[in-house]
Amino acid sequence: VPSQLIDQFGRRVDYIRLSITDRCDFRCQYCMAEDMTFLPREAVLSLEECARLVKLFVRMGVTKVRITGGEPLVRKNAMWLFEEIGHLPGLDSCVLTTNGSQLDKYAVALKAAGVKRINISIDSLQADRFKTITRVGELSKVLSGLDAARAAGFDNLKINTVLMRGINDDEAEDLVNFALQKQVDISFIEEMPLGEVNHLREDSCVSNTETLALLKSKFSLTASTHHTGGPARYWQVNGHLTKIGFISPHSHNFCESCNRVRITCQGELFLCLGQDHQVNLMPLLREHPDDDQPLVDAILHGMRIKPKGHDFDLRRTAPAVVRFMSHTGG
Ligand code: GTP
Ligand code: 5AD
Ligand code: SF4
Repeated sequence: VPSQLIDQFGRRVDYIRLSITDRCDFRCQYCMAEDMTFLPREAVLSLEECARLVKLFVRMGVTKVRITGGEPLVRKNAMWLFEEIGHLPGLDSCVLTTNGSQLDKYAVALKAAGVKRINISIDSLQADRFKTITRVGELSKVLSGLDAARAAGFDNLKINTVLMRGINDDEAEDLVNFALQKQVDISFIEEMPLGEVNHLREDSCVSNTETLALLKSKFSLTASTHHTGGPARYWQVNGHLTKIGFISPHSHNFCESCNRVRITCQGELFLCLGQDHQVNLMPLLREHPDDDQPLVDAILHGMRIKPKGHDFDLRRTAPAVVRFMSHTGG
Protein backbone atom coordinates (compact mmCIF):
# COMPACT_ATOMS: atom_id res chain seq x y z
CA VAL A 1 0.00 0.00 0.00
CA PRO A 2 1.49 3.36 -1.00
CA SER A 3 1.95 5.46 2.08
CA GLN A 4 1.00 8.83 0.69
CA LEU A 5 -1.91 10.34 -1.16
CA ILE A 6 -0.77 13.17 -3.40
CA ASP A 7 -2.83 14.79 -6.14
CA GLN A 8 -1.80 16.20 -9.52
CA PHE A 9 -1.31 19.65 -7.97
CA GLY A 10 1.10 18.30 -5.37
CA ARG A 11 -1.38 18.55 -2.52
CA ARG A 12 -1.07 15.84 0.09
CA VAL A 13 -4.30 14.39 1.46
CA ASP A 14 -4.03 13.40 5.11
CA TYR A 15 -7.57 14.24 6.24
CA ILE A 16 -10.76 12.33 5.43
CA ARG A 17 -14.29 13.36 6.28
CA LEU A 18 -16.52 10.32 6.60
CA SER A 19 -20.28 10.76 6.66
CA ILE A 20 -21.88 7.86 8.51
CA THR A 21 -25.51 8.81 7.88
CA ASP A 22 -27.51 11.21 5.72
CA ARG A 23 -30.12 11.43 8.47
CA CYS A 24 -30.39 14.28 10.90
CA ASP A 25 -32.74 15.20 13.70
CA PHE A 26 -32.55 18.87 12.60
CA ARG A 27 -33.47 20.46 9.26
CA CYS A 28 -31.24 23.54 9.11
CA GLN A 29 -32.47 25.97 6.47
CA TYR A 30 -29.14 26.37 4.71
CA CYS A 31 -28.34 22.67 4.77
CA MET A 32 -31.51 20.75 3.94
CA ALA A 33 -34.86 20.97 2.25
CA GLU A 34 -37.80 20.86 4.62
CA ASP A 35 -39.12 17.61 3.15
CA MET A 36 -35.85 15.69 2.82
CA THR A 37 -36.14 12.02 2.01
CA PHE A 38 -33.47 9.76 3.45
CA LEU A 39 -31.68 6.74 2.08
CA PRO A 40 -32.85 3.19 2.79
CA ARG A 41 -30.57 1.25 5.08
CA GLU A 42 -29.13 -1.09 2.45
CA ALA A 43 -27.88 1.90 0.43
CA VAL A 44 -25.71 3.00 3.33
CA LEU A 45 -22.27 1.68 4.31
CA SER A 46 -22.30 -0.66 7.28
CA LEU A 47 -20.24 0.49 10.25
CA GLU A 48 -17.85 -2.41 9.54
CA GLU A 49 -17.39 -1.04 6.01
CA CYS A 50 -16.77 2.42 7.45
CA ALA A 51 -14.11 1.03 9.79
CA ARG A 52 -12.47 -0.88 6.95
CA LEU A 53 -12.22 2.30 4.88
CA VAL A 54 -10.79 4.31 7.76
CA LYS A 55 -8.14 1.66 8.42
CA LEU A 56 -7.22 1.54 4.75
CA PHE A 57 -6.93 5.32 4.46
CA VAL A 58 -4.76 5.42 7.56
CA ARG A 59 -2.46 2.86 5.94
CA MET A 60 -2.34 5.22 2.96
CA GLY A 61 -1.12 8.13 5.05
CA VAL A 62 -4.27 9.71 6.49
CA THR A 63 -3.77 10.98 10.06
CA LYS A 64 -7.05 12.81 10.68
CA VAL A 65 -10.56 11.44 10.31
CA ARG A 66 -13.60 13.58 10.92
CA ILE A 67 -16.88 11.76 11.38
CA THR A 68 -19.80 13.74 9.93
CA GLY A 69 -23.35 13.20 8.70
CA GLY A 70 -26.19 14.20 8.54
CA GLU A 71 -25.98 13.99 12.29
CA PRO A 72 -23.50 11.20 13.04
CA LEU A 73 -24.80 10.51 16.53
CA VAL A 74 -28.27 9.55 15.27
CA ARG A 75 -26.74 6.56 13.48
CA LYS A 76 -27.59 3.42 15.41
CA ASN A 77 -24.50 1.96 17.13
CA ALA A 78 -22.35 4.92 16.04
CA MET A 79 -20.32 4.40 19.22
CA TRP A 80 -19.11 1.06 17.90
CA LEU A 81 -17.27 2.88 15.10
CA PHE A 82 -15.65 5.43 17.43
CA GLU A 83 -14.48 2.59 19.66
CA GLU A 84 -13.11 0.74 16.65
CA ILE A 85 -11.09 3.66 15.24
CA GLY A 86 -10.58 6.10 18.13
CA HIS A 87 -7.31 4.53 19.27
CA LEU A 88 -6.15 3.28 15.87
CA PRO A 89 -2.34 3.49 15.59
CA GLY A 90 -1.36 6.08 12.98
CA LEU A 91 -4.60 7.99 13.35
CA ASP A 92 -3.53 11.10 15.27
CA SER A 93 -6.96 12.62 15.46
CA CYS A 94 -10.33 11.04 15.29
CA VAL A 95 -12.69 14.01 15.50
CA LEU A 96 -16.41 14.68 15.24
CA THR A 97 -18.74 17.33 13.83
CA THR A 98 -22.19 17.26 15.41
CA ASN A 99 -25.28 19.36 15.97
CA GLY A 100 -24.87 18.60 19.67
CA SER A 101 -28.37 17.25 20.23
CA GLN A 102 -27.16 13.87 21.52
CA LEU A 103 -23.97 14.92 23.26
CA ASP A 104 -25.30 14.76 26.78
CA LYS A 105 -25.88 11.08 26.10
CA TYR A 106 -22.59 10.26 24.32
CA ALA A 107 -19.90 12.72 25.46
CA VAL A 108 -18.34 10.46 28.09
CA ALA A 109 -18.25 7.45 25.76
CA LEU A 110 -16.78 9.55 22.92
CA LYS A 111 -13.98 10.73 25.18
CA ALA A 112 -13.26 7.19 26.34
CA ALA A 113 -13.25 5.96 22.73
CA GLY A 114 -10.41 8.35 21.92
CA VAL A 115 -12.22 11.16 20.08
CA LYS A 116 -9.87 14.15 20.25
CA ARG A 117 -12.03 17.14 19.33
CA ILE A 118 -15.68 17.96 18.76
CA ASN A 119 -17.12 20.77 16.61
CA ILE A 120 -20.68 21.72 17.52
CA SER A 121 -22.94 23.74 15.22
CA ILE A 122 -24.71 26.63 16.97
CA ASP A 123 -26.19 29.37 14.79
CA SER A 124 -28.16 31.27 17.40
CA LEU A 125 -28.35 31.70 21.15
CA GLN A 126 -31.99 32.74 20.98
CA ALA A 127 -34.26 29.74 21.46
CA ASP A 128 -37.01 30.87 19.10
CA ARG A 129 -34.54 31.79 16.40
CA PHE A 130 -32.65 28.55 16.88
CA LYS A 131 -35.93 26.75 16.27
CA THR A 132 -36.58 28.78 13.11
CA ILE A 133 -33.12 28.08 11.67
CA THR A 134 -33.08 24.37 12.50
CA ARG A 135 -36.85 24.04 11.92
CA VAL A 136 -37.08 21.52 14.80
CA GLY A 137 -34.00 21.85 17.05
CA GLU A 138 -34.04 22.65 20.77
CA LEU A 139 -31.30 25.10 21.76
CA SER A 140 -31.36 24.03 25.41
CA LYS A 141 -30.57 20.45 24.42
CA VAL A 142 -27.54 21.57 22.39
CA LEU A 143 -26.26 23.80 25.19
CA SER A 144 -26.54 20.99 27.69
CA GLY A 145 -24.71 18.80 25.18
CA LEU A 146 -21.89 21.31 24.98
CA ASP A 147 -21.64 21.42 28.78
CA ALA A 148 -21.65 17.61 28.91
CA ALA A 149 -18.77 17.49 26.43
CA ARG A 150 -16.85 20.01 28.54
CA ALA A 151 -17.51 17.96 31.67
CA ALA A 152 -16.37 14.80 29.88
CA GLY A 153 -12.95 16.40 29.38
CA PHE A 154 -13.19 17.91 25.90
CA ASP A 155 -11.23 21.10 26.53
CA ASN A 156 -10.91 22.08 22.85
CA LEU A 157 -14.50 22.35 21.72
CA LYS A 158 -15.37 24.54 18.77
CA ILE A 159 -18.63 26.13 17.79
CA ASN A 160 -19.48 26.32 14.08
CA THR A 161 -21.71 29.21 13.03
CA VAL A 162 -23.22 30.03 9.65
CA LEU A 163 -24.46 33.62 9.66
CA MET A 164 -27.44 34.35 7.41
CA ARG A 165 -28.46 37.84 6.40
CA GLY A 166 -31.53 39.05 8.24
CA ILE A 167 -31.77 35.84 10.28
CA ASN A 168 -28.85 35.68 12.72
CA ASP A 169 -26.27 38.12 11.32
CA ASP A 170 -26.72 40.36 14.37
CA GLU A 171 -25.44 37.60 16.70
CA ALA A 172 -21.73 37.43 15.88
CA GLU A 173 -20.73 39.45 18.95
CA ASP A 174 -23.08 37.53 21.27
CA LEU A 175 -21.76 34.22 19.96
CA VAL A 176 -18.16 35.28 20.54
CA ASN A 177 -19.02 36.41 24.06
CA PHE A 178 -20.63 33.03 24.64
CA ALA A 179 -17.48 31.30 23.35
CA LEU A 180 -15.35 33.40 25.70
CA GLN A 181 -17.55 32.53 28.63
CA LYS A 182 -17.47 28.80 27.80
CA GLN A 183 -13.75 28.92 26.90
CA VAL A 184 -14.31 27.33 23.52
CA ASP A 185 -13.28 28.33 19.99
CA ILE A 186 -15.74 29.48 17.37
CA SER A 187 -15.64 29.39 13.56
CA PHE A 188 -17.72 31.52 11.24
CA ILE A 189 -18.52 29.72 7.99
CA GLU A 190 -19.62 31.45 4.80
CA GLU A 191 -22.76 29.77 3.47
CA MET A 192 -22.08 27.58 0.46
CA PRO A 193 -24.50 26.91 -2.40
CA LEU A 194 -25.06 23.16 -2.09
CA GLY A 195 -28.54 21.81 -2.81
CA GLU A 196 -31.63 23.84 -3.56
CA VAL A 197 -33.01 25.57 -0.47
CA ASN A 198 -35.83 28.04 0.12
CA HIS A 199 -33.77 31.18 -0.25
CA LEU A 200 -31.20 32.68 -2.61
CA ARG A 201 -27.72 32.06 -1.24
CA GLU A 202 -26.59 35.39 -2.63
CA ASP A 203 -29.13 37.13 -0.40
CA SER A 204 -28.32 35.18 2.76
CA CYS A 205 -24.56 34.63 2.64
CA VAL A 206 -22.64 36.97 4.94
CA SER A 207 -19.03 37.57 3.95
CA ASN A 208 -16.42 36.82 6.59
CA THR A 209 -14.69 40.04 5.54
CA GLU A 210 -17.66 41.82 7.07
CA THR A 211 -17.82 39.59 10.16
CA LEU A 212 -14.11 39.96 10.86
CA ALA A 213 -14.31 43.76 10.55
CA LEU A 214 -17.24 43.85 12.94
CA LEU A 215 -15.52 41.58 15.48
CA LYS A 216 -12.29 43.59 15.28
CA SER A 217 -14.29 46.63 16.33
CA LYS A 218 -15.65 44.76 19.38
CA PHE A 219 -12.73 42.61 20.54
CA SER A 220 -8.95 42.84 20.63
CA LEU A 221 -7.81 40.27 18.06
CA THR A 222 -4.42 39.09 16.85
CA ALA A 223 -3.92 36.93 13.74
CA SER A 224 -2.90 33.46 14.89
CA THR A 225 -0.86 30.71 13.26
CA HIS A 226 -3.03 28.11 14.99
CA HIS A 227 -3.86 25.22 12.65
CA THR A 228 -6.21 22.28 12.92
CA GLY A 229 -5.70 20.84 9.46
CA GLY A 230 -9.06 22.31 8.41
CA PRO A 231 -9.77 25.33 6.21
CA ALA A 232 -10.21 27.93 8.98
CA ARG A 233 -7.86 30.88 9.52
CA TYR A 234 -7.75 31.86 13.18
CA TRP A 235 -7.58 35.02 15.26
CA GLN A 236 -6.74 34.97 18.96
CA VAL A 237 -8.96 36.96 21.32
CA ASN A 238 -6.26 38.69 23.36
CA GLY A 239 -6.27 37.79 27.03
CA HIS A 240 -8.56 34.78 26.47
CA LEU A 241 -8.27 31.13 25.49
CA THR A 242 -10.77 31.54 22.68
CA LYS A 243 -9.74 31.63 19.04
CA ILE A 244 -12.06 32.79 16.29
CA GLY A 245 -11.85 30.88 13.02
CA PHE A 246 -13.02 32.05 9.61
CA ILE A 247 -13.92 29.56 6.91
CA SER A 248 -14.23 31.72 3.84
CA PRO A 249 -14.68 29.77 0.60
CA HIS A 250 -15.99 32.91 -1.12
CA SER A 251 -13.96 35.78 0.30
CA HIS A 252 -10.66 33.96 0.84
CA ASN A 253 -10.32 30.78 -1.20
CA PHE A 254 -8.28 28.06 0.49
CA CYS A 255 -8.35 25.33 -2.18
CA GLU A 256 -4.64 25.67 -2.89
CA SER A 257 -3.87 24.12 0.49
CA CYS A 258 -6.61 21.50 0.37
CA ASN A 259 -5.61 18.35 2.25
CA ARG A 260 -8.91 16.49 2.39
CA VAL A 261 -11.38 14.24 0.62
CA ARG A 262 -14.83 13.04 1.64
CA ILE A 263 -16.60 9.72 1.81
CA THR A 264 -20.37 9.74 1.78
CA CYS A 265 -22.48 7.27 3.72
CA GLN A 266 -23.08 5.56 0.37
CA GLY A 267 -19.38 4.96 -0.08
CA GLU A 268 -18.75 7.61 -2.72
CA LEU A 269 -15.34 9.18 -2.49
CA PHE A 270 -15.86 12.87 -3.27
CA LEU A 271 -12.68 14.69 -4.23
CA CYS A 272 -14.02 18.20 -3.60
CA LEU A 273 -16.96 19.57 -1.64
CA GLY A 274 -17.83 21.95 -4.45
CA GLN A 275 -17.48 19.61 -7.43
CA ASP A 276 -19.01 16.34 -8.59
CA HIS A 277 -15.78 14.39 -9.19
CA GLN A 278 -16.18 11.09 -7.40
CA VAL A 279 -15.27 7.41 -7.26
CA ASN A 280 -17.74 4.84 -5.98
CA LEU A 281 -16.09 2.60 -3.39
CA MET A 282 -19.24 0.74 -2.31
CA PRO A 283 -19.22 -1.98 -5.01
CA LEU A 284 -15.51 -2.61 -4.43
CA LEU A 285 -16.09 -2.96 -0.70
CA ARG A 286 -18.86 -5.47 -1.26
CA GLU A 287 -17.34 -7.45 -4.16
CA HIS A 288 -13.88 -7.75 -2.58
CA PRO A 289 -14.38 -8.31 1.13
CA ASP A 290 -10.89 -9.77 1.58
CA ASP A 291 -8.84 -7.86 -0.98
CA ASP A 292 -8.05 -4.18 -0.53
CA GLN A 293 -6.17 -3.77 -3.80
CA PRO A 294 -9.19 -2.77 -5.93
CA LEU A 295 -10.03 -0.15 -3.30
CA VAL A 296 -6.46 1.12 -3.23
CA ASP A 297 -6.48 1.45 -7.03
CA ALA A 298 -9.79 3.31 -6.98
CA ILE A 299 -8.58 5.69 -4.27
CA LEU A 300 -5.39 6.41 -6.22
CA HIS A 301 -7.53 7.08 -9.29
CA GLY A 302 -9.54 9.51 -7.16
CA MET A 303 -6.36 11.37 -6.29
CA ARG A 304 -5.67 11.83 -10.00
CA ILE A 305 -9.07 13.41 -10.63
CA LYS A 306 -9.15 15.65 -7.55
CA PRO A 307 -10.09 19.05 -8.99
CA LYS A 308 -8.14 22.21 -8.38
CA GLY A 309 -10.94 23.78 -6.38
CA HIS A 310 -14.59 24.68 -6.15
CA ASP A 311 -16.27 27.21 -8.39
CA PHE A 312 -19.10 28.24 -6.09
CA ASP A 313 -21.03 31.14 -7.58
CA LEU A 314 -23.57 32.69 -5.23
CA ARG A 315 -25.25 34.56 -8.07
CA ARG A 316 -26.46 31.41 -9.78
CA THR A 317 -30.11 30.86 -8.92
CA ALA A 318 -29.87 27.08 -9.30
CA PRO A 319 -26.92 25.58 -7.47
CA ALA A 320 -24.22 24.00 -9.63
CA VAL A 321 -23.89 21.29 -6.99
CA VAL A 322 -27.35 19.80 -6.62
CA ARG A 323 -26.57 17.52 -3.68
CA PHE A 324 -27.12 18.88 -0.21
CA MET A 325 -24.38 19.51 2.32
CA SER A 326 -25.75 16.58 4.33
CA HIS A 327 -24.83 14.26 1.45
CA THR A 328 -21.09 14.91 1.68
CA GLY A 329 -21.02 15.92 5.33
CA GLY A 330 -19.74 19.44 4.69
P1 GTP B 1 -11.23 21.44 12.17
O1 GTP B 1 -10.62 20.10 12.23
O2 GTP B 1 -11.65 21.91 13.53
O3 GTP B 1 -10.44 22.44 11.42
O4 GTP B 1 -12.62 21.22 11.39
P2 GTP B 1 -13.14 21.55 9.93
O5 GTP B 1 -13.40 23.00 9.80
O6 GTP B 1 -12.27 20.91 8.94
O7 GTP B 1 -14.52 20.74 9.95
P3 GTP B 1 -16.03 21.10 10.27
O8 GTP B 1 -16.78 19.83 10.07
O9 GTP B 1 -16.18 21.77 11.57
O10 GTP B 1 -16.43 22.06 9.10
C1 GTP B 1 -16.65 23.42 9.23
C2 GTP B 1 -17.07 23.97 7.88
O11 GTP B 1 -15.96 23.95 7.01
C3 GTP B 1 -18.19 23.19 7.20
O12 GTP B 1 -19.14 24.09 6.66
C4 GTP B 1 -17.49 22.49 6.09
O13 GTP B 1 -18.33 22.31 5.00
C5 GTP B 1 -16.41 23.48 5.77
N1 GTP B 1 -15.30 22.83 5.11
C6 GTP B 1 -14.48 21.88 5.64
N2 GTP B 1 -13.60 21.49 4.71
C7 GTP B 1 -13.89 22.21 3.59
C8 GTP B 1 -13.35 22.25 2.30
O14 GTP B 1 -12.43 21.51 1.98
N3 GTP B 1 -13.90 23.10 1.40
C9 GTP B 1 -14.91 23.90 1.71
N4 GTP B 1 -15.38 24.71 0.75
N5 GTP B 1 -15.47 23.89 2.92
C10 GTP B 1 -14.97 23.06 3.84
N1 5AD C 1 -22.87 26.32 3.86
C1 5AD C 1 -21.96 26.42 4.86
N2 5AD C 1 -21.94 25.61 5.94
C2 5AD C 1 -22.87 24.66 5.99
N3 5AD C 1 -23.09 23.72 6.92
C3 5AD C 1 -24.12 22.96 6.50
N4 5AD C 1 -24.60 23.41 5.33
C4 5AD C 1 -23.84 24.49 4.98
C5 5AD C 1 -23.82 25.38 3.88
N5 5AD C 1 -24.70 25.28 2.87
C6 5AD C 1 -22.28 23.58 8.13
C7 5AD C 1 -23.02 23.18 9.37
C8 5AD C 1 -21.98 22.43 10.17
C9 5AD C 1 -20.91 22.08 9.18
C10 5AD C 1 -20.58 20.65 9.08
O1 5AD C 1 -21.36 22.53 7.92
O2 5AD C 1 -23.46 24.31 10.07
O3 5AD C 1 -21.44 23.23 11.18
FE1 SF4 D 1 -10.72 21.31 -1.17
FE2 SF4 D 1 -12.76 21.51 -2.80
FE3 SF4 D 1 -12.88 22.44 -0.31
FE4 SF4 D 1 -11.47 23.66 -2.15
S1 SF4 D 1 -13.67 23.43 -2.08
S2 SF4 D 1 -10.81 23.26 -0.13
S3 SF4 D 1 -10.67 21.90 -3.29
S4 SF4 D 1 -12.66 20.30 -0.97
